[in-house]
Amino acid sequence: MSFGYKAIFVDLDGTLLNSQKEISKKNLDCLNSFIEQGIYVVIATGRTIKSVNKVTENLNINTPIITLNGSDVRKSRDGYSMSLVYLENKYRDSIYARCKSILNGNKQYSIQNLLVDTSKGFYCLHPNKIDVDEFTSHYDTEVLELDLDNPPDEQVISFLFLLTPESNRVAFLKDQNDYFMSRVQFCTFNGWPWIEVGSLNANKGSAMTLVCEHLGIEVKDVIAFGDGQNDVEMLKSAGLGVAMGNADEHAIKCANAKTVSNDADGVAVFLERLYNV
Ligand code: G3H
Ligand code: MG
Repeated sequence: MSFGYKAIFVDLDGTLLNSQKEISKKNLDCLNSFIEQGIYVVIATGRTIKSVNKVTENLNINTPIITLNGSDVRKSRDGYSMSLVYLENKYRDSIYARCKSILNGNKQYSIQNLLVDTSKGFYCLHPNKIDVDEFTSHYDTEVLELDLDNPPDEQVISFLFLLTPESNRVAFLKDQNDYFMSRVQFCTFNGWPWIEVGSLNANKGSAMTLVCEHLGIEVKDVIAFGDGQNDVEMLKSAGLGVAMGNADEHAIKCANAKTVSNDADGVAVFLERLYNV
């Protein structure tokens, strides 16, 4: 076999997982067969490590795992953090203060909800206003109540803002543009549009570079698959970046190639086609 790449980096939601949040048999057999032949398979996701382990238990990976959109790179399934990137505390504190001022009501938009991912777990402004059961199951974590009058002292990995409708998101981003000196991107959870604010230094692309160094390979030797804005840096840095058929405009724009959707086994379909050529 002459595959030509030494590693396959793959996003989970919208990419390796289908709409049922499962890895199909076709995708599983395909990736396990590449692993058997000595090709590295690396998961790169916005999820937590616990949640990754739950959905990938039948995948025979023994490689580092990129979690929380590159903020936390784990050496292995049960391994330590090789790299943990927090938002600088000065930005954390100013964001807490800003949120309090927004919630006191002098803006044209409102924050429906706010989740904060910290070193000690998740905090939520209105735990009863989101589907907490679904959230805790997705991330496999507990959610504590966030009190903006007395915000937790823990270091923050990212803030997740829920702002609807669309006009709220646009006004919010415009207003915060100079204020949040950090990485701001759209993401979805439970079908709702969230805005994630995290460290500029944390993304799947920089995490991919770190993992490649650890594996002794170069990023040009990587084929990467993704579907969302949180995959952009990874798709751009990889030797071959592949957008899913269901990918958003950000992922499509920066990818070198496109495959079919996650529900049509896009990862396996692309790899098998490449392998056969
Ligand atoms: O939890 C995070 C979102 O579902 C995105 O995950 O990076 O695997 O697509 P993903
Ligand atoms: Mg995704």
